[in-house]
Amino acid sequence: MNTESFFPKNIKAALQNNPPGDWIPSVPAKAIRLHSGYPAPHLVPSKDLKEAVAQLLEEENDLPLHYIGSPRIDKLKEWVRLRQEVRGMVAKDDELLITAGACQAIDLIARIFLDKDAVVIVESPTYMEALEIFQNYTEQIITVPVDKDGLQTGQLAELLAERKQKGLTMPSFLYTIPTFHNPTGTTMTEERRGQVLKLAEEYDFLVLEDDAYGELGFKENPKTLKSMDTKDRVLYVGSLSKVVAPGMRIGWVHATERFIQALFWFKKDLEHPFAQATMATLLENTDFTSRLQTLSESYQRKCQVMLAALEKSLPENASWFVPKGGYFVWVKITGVDTEKLLSKATEGGVSFLPGKYFFLDQAEGAEYLRLSFSYESEENIEEGIQVLGDVVQSFLR
Ligand SMILES: Cc1ncc(COP(=O)(O)O)c(C=O)c1O
Repeated sequence: MNTESFFPKNIKAALQNNPPGDWIPSVPAKAIRLHSGYPAPHLVPSKDLKEAVAQLLEEENDLPLHYIGSPRIDKLKEWVRLRQEVRGMVAKDDELLITAGACQAIDLIARIFLDKDAVVIVESPTYMEALEIFQNYTEQIITVPVDKDGLQTGQLAELLAERKQKGLTMPSFLYTIPTFHNPTGTTMTEERRGQVLKLAEEYDFLVLEDDAYGELGFKENPKTLKSMDTKDRVLYVGSLSKVVAPGMRIGWVHATERFIQALFWFKKDLEHPFAQATMATLLENTDFTSRLQTLSESYQRKCQVMLAALEKSLPENASWFVPKGGYFVWVKITGVDTEKLLSKATEGGVSFLPGKYFFLDQAEGAEYLRLSFSYESEENIEEGIQVLGDVVQSFLR
């Protein structure tokens, strides 16, 4: 049997890309993990989740184990609606869709708006899993660089004007992580946010706002694009992965009703009702504001430890952005191929993610690496950066 003959053209093309998760480094169990974009283990509420499962089953018996049995599924949606409202985004019930994490939301959005002829604009660098998703649907991905103030809207404007003038296909949507960006940790200024929305209106495209880290500011959380959007052009994607637990797979989309309807067409019941009911039970018992406060204080401290260690241990030719929230520090080491550096680093006992995975043209990322301060303890972060510094020094010799 020729297995390949069964795949239609678009799937064959998608299967030419790198396999999902190709970027995950193989890291010895004992290494200090600075590559993982995971929450800190002690900040994942495992005990509260265990109690929530017990309470849910005690109170509802088999209900949450049916397809859509538990009334708490509606309660989760109501919690999300209220959360959006607190953040200045008013959603009607039919403008919200709960998904299996932000990734399912991004995949569904790609599915309803992209085909092989469609154009999507992404930031460079960008979240590698979103790149993987878009590459499954189209080869026409265009990049716009990010600097310390987020997406460079001047370059976006030039690119759009040029495409229009040349009669090229205009983008269906722009994918952006405006707040505490993965991987660069940068945050788009309010002025640039306004420009993004203006350009979307002028050139008639949509904006996919990925706000996975949006509530993880050390001091404050900037206004979302969605809260500034008066024209319904923003499809906002939220997630509880970084603030509660990624394995629960809870995310959502807030967008205009017609788009939510189209997304629902394809999502059907492919999310996890039991996880949703459990999350709703957990949230009933959680003071979320104080939880965010705890996360923000803890991640800010870890970030400070990492930045101080970088100052101490990295050579002159290394530079980085100072994040105001989120999980990551993005480092450039001029003259060092970070993929080669990784194998030396893991041998030495520390991991990171080579920058190349966050770029469409991987060569552009050769001198960059992403460090995550979220997962490891402060002591391990300090030690890990010291090891990294030693590895870089010996690499440069
Ligand atoms: C920018 C960004 N969006 C989305 C996600 C994934 O979110 P979820 O776990 O809700 O699918 C991540 C996780 O690393 C992320 O960094």
